Amino acid sequence: MDTFAFIIHPIDPKRDVSRKFPLLGRVLNEKQIDFFSTFFPPVYISEIEGITSQATGKEIKGWFIACPYTPKRMMELPEQTVYRKIIQTGQLAEKLGAQILGLGAFTSVVGDAGVTIANALDVPVTTGDSYTVMVAVEAIREAACVMDIPLKTATAAVVGATGAIGQVCAELLADDVERLYLIGRRQDKLEELRDRLKVYARCELIISTTMDVLKEAQLILTVTSAIHDVVRPEHLQPGSVVCDVARPRDVSAMVAAVRDDILVIDGGMVDVPGPVDFHFNFGFPLGKAYACMAETIALALEGRFEDYTLGKHLTRARVEEIDRIAKKHGFRLSGFRSFEREVTTQQIEAVRRNAKNARLTLAAHK
Ligand SMILES: NC(=O)c1ccc[n+]([C@@H]2O[C@H](COP(=O)([O-])OP(=O)(O)OC[C@H]3O[C@@H](n4cnc5c(N)ncnc54)[C@H](OP(=O)(O)O)[C@@H]3O)[C@@H](O)[C@H]2O)c1
Repeated sequence: MDTFAFIIHPIDPKRDVSRKFPLLGRVLNEKQIDFFSTFFPPVYISEIEGITSQATGKEIKGWFIACPYTPKRMMELPEQTVYRKIIQTGQLAEKLGAQILGLGAFTSVVGDAGVTIANALDVPVTTGDSYTVMVAVEAIREAACVMDIPLKTATAAVVGATGAIGQVCAELLADDVERLYLIGRRQDKLEELRDRLKVYARCELIISTTMDVLKEAQLILTVTSAIHDVVRPEHLQPGSVVCDVARPRDVSAMVAAVRDDILVIDGGMVDVPGPVDFHFNFGFPLGKAYACMAETIALALEGRFEDYTLGKHLTRARVEEIDRIAKKHGFRLSGFRSFEREVTTQQIEAVRRNAKNARLTLAAHK
């Protein structure tokens, strides 16, 4: 049977450590987990079974393995130290017999986005970022549709637009909307991106290093590698859709708490083909996976045991190819989720109603 492995790591330290080690999760506080994670070895998490291609009937198996570092640790420690730990985790995948290895969340963000890690390992590696791009863009298109926001005349924004995932998301969205804000921290990188996109983009492109412009956008795709939230309630206009692809999240939990007129959706969740059992609760409902996991799985189903998405320069061609491969084997964009909960049709209705009222109140105060 063909095989794959996928590296995960704690994102919310207490919650995620409790999922594997309930006692440690209970007794250690967040600071202690951060500290001890430096000395922990890679951890075997679970065997994954039941994934079956809808196109070929081929069944594969895989493993979750964990790099113990938290995102904060990965940003603080020297890059070489982080690489070393991820490579050790990859070597565990090799021992298990994995034929392809996926890098989850921050293990794909650190340094050169997988290149050094892939060079140090025999097993082929992918970050999963190409499929993450496609699933995020599809999710925002679908959310625009349910919120009655016509794409052609919409104003959209990509936060973290200069990042590996953000750049190609911006490239795809530039084909869909009328106006697109590219938001990042560095003016020179934003200018470079705008100049590159403007050669073929049909929409107006505006760059910004501040979040204030988010108020202009109806559709927001946010995908920074910040370790704290960056999108807050005061940044958003009533009725807007925010697709949060980042892990840890970019959108403040306060948005859910105080803005019932905004639709926040988690970017990057897909249905996996076959009666899959991950034998580990990573926070999703049964049968669903992150898009980056799905890229690794889809490549294993396709028998493409090669380095696939690596480095900070993703290409649209790869994004479209992995989308075809994933669709062929039966991966589908899942329903909407927001802050770990399913979004129901009634909730979407309520957001639309609340947004209408909020707009009327705003107009009355002008
Ligand atoms: N949902 C999924 O399936 C999935 C899959 C893969 C990755 N991800 C997540 O996607 C996110 C981005 O990954 P990536 O590979 O595109 O990362 P990346 O290449 O490092 O890009 C990150 C972007 O975020 C910006 N940024 C970093 N810190 C920031 C801050 N404090 N405030 C505002 N902007 C900030 C960076 O700007 P500068 O250029 O100025 O540094 C850059 O534009 C990560 O959170 C990762 O975990 C999710």
